[in-house]
Amino acid sequence: MFDYITAGESHGPEITAIIKDLPAGLKINIDNINKQLKRRQQGHGRGGRMDIEKDRINITSGLREGITLGSPLAMNIKNKDWANWEDIMTVTNKGDQNKIKAKRVAEPRPGHADLPGGIKFNHSDLRNVLERASARETAIRTAVGSIAREFLANFEVEIFSHVTGIGTVKSPNWLAIKEQKNITSIKEIREYFNQVEQSPVRAGSKETTAKMIELIDKWKEAGDSVGGICEVIVTGLPLGLGSHTHHDLKLEGQLAAELIAIQAIKGIEFGGGFKLAEKPGSQVHDEIFYDNDKKKFYRKSNNSGGLEGGISTGEELIVRLPMKPIPTLSQPLKTVNLDSKEPAEAAKERSDNCAVPSASIVAEAVTAIVLAKSFSNKFGGDSIKEIKNNYNSYLKQIENY
Ligand SMILES: Cc1cc2nc3c(=O)[nH]c(=O)nc-3n(C[C@H](O)[C@H](O)[C@H](O)COP(=O)(O)O)c2cc1C
Repeated sequence: MFDYITAGESHGPEITAIIKDLPAGLKINIDNINKQLKRRQQGHGRGGRMDIEKDRINITSGLREGITLGSPLAMNIKNKDWANWEDIMTVTNKGDQNKIKAKRVAEPRPGHADLPGGIKFNHSDLRNVLERASARETAIRTAVGSIAREFLANFEVEIFSHVTGIGTVKSPNWLAIKEQKNITSIKEIREYFNQVEQSPVRAGSKETTAKMIELIDKWKEAGDSVGGICEVIVTGLPLGLGSHTHHDLKLEGQLAAELIAIQAIKGIEFGGGFKLAEKPGSQVHDEIFYDNDKKKFYRKSNNSGGLEGGISTGEELIVRLPMKPIPTLSQPLKTVNLDSKEPAEAAKERSDNCAVPSASIVAEAVTAIVLAKSFSNKFGGDSIKEIKNNYNSYLKQIENY
């Protein structure tokens, strides 16, 4: 379930997705999808393209009166910029050869798929690579993620994110913030993340927001770019998603594979993260307690980030992702011209100089997709009703464990 494919070039007519196996009876609120698309377009450091595009989802099949049919759901987002690229990116052989030549990319940008993609696919115009490698594709993945979120909302699963680093400006991660602010309830969690939504860099405080903006602007002025770190937090997950029984069923492996596949994401940490490697085991592993009144196992810490042995523990899922700096620079990097093999300056495409806030929204979406898939594999059924029945009966089963 929740298998999907995306298609589309950055300056083509549209970007498209088909989700193959959605359960029937799932209510889809199109405004919610558009809200997520808008969140992805925001953030200090984004370039001119986002002024052109006003992403809106267009669902063309699999949905009737806002409710899924159980058949494939197809949807697309029109690229407004297509109007400027029709003669260059046309699928016919009727393009404007002068314009195509003028927009040919022969100077590969370091840090992009340009050179390896060009050589591997034998393209003499690197535009044939960069158009698909571009993070424009993350718009439609965000839409797929919004549908996954709608599904997870039926089971009270909520997904949040914030930015904990831009370049050298760092702010505390979620575990530290929870401790500092003594956040315990879902209400307090929502309050904190509502505040994050107000920050143009998705930071947790005004001071950090100001410092991050200053740093982004400093690098922009210098014609340079900057990366950072975002963190995704999921509440309301049941214990038991994923499995220890086989390598490809482990939930952290599935999350890692999909999240690292987001453009420019270069690593992943769960819970206490890489820092845990510096500490003795006694300070790392989340000890197990039992509440006799509630008849429930519980933990006092969550260094595992909500995963043990490839299985969700029922605690918050915490995932942290570093994003490398944007590779397209207005002070271009050194490269080599494909034709002359002489030194050259990398091609300049219109570009963001920091997209970490946007990547954090994409990471929410991708997390939602992986979890919705895992969820429907475990509680599977053809309709949302059947999945709910299976889910509730499982909850009863583990309550009595
Ligand atoms: C939301 C988002 C926006 C991005 N915007 C740009 C951009 O405007 N210019 C650019 O050169 N790279 C941008 N990137 C990064 C590139 O897509 C990425 O570096 C490239 O695809 C290489 O990815 P890789 O390092 O994962 O192979 C963006 C990435 C994301 C996630």
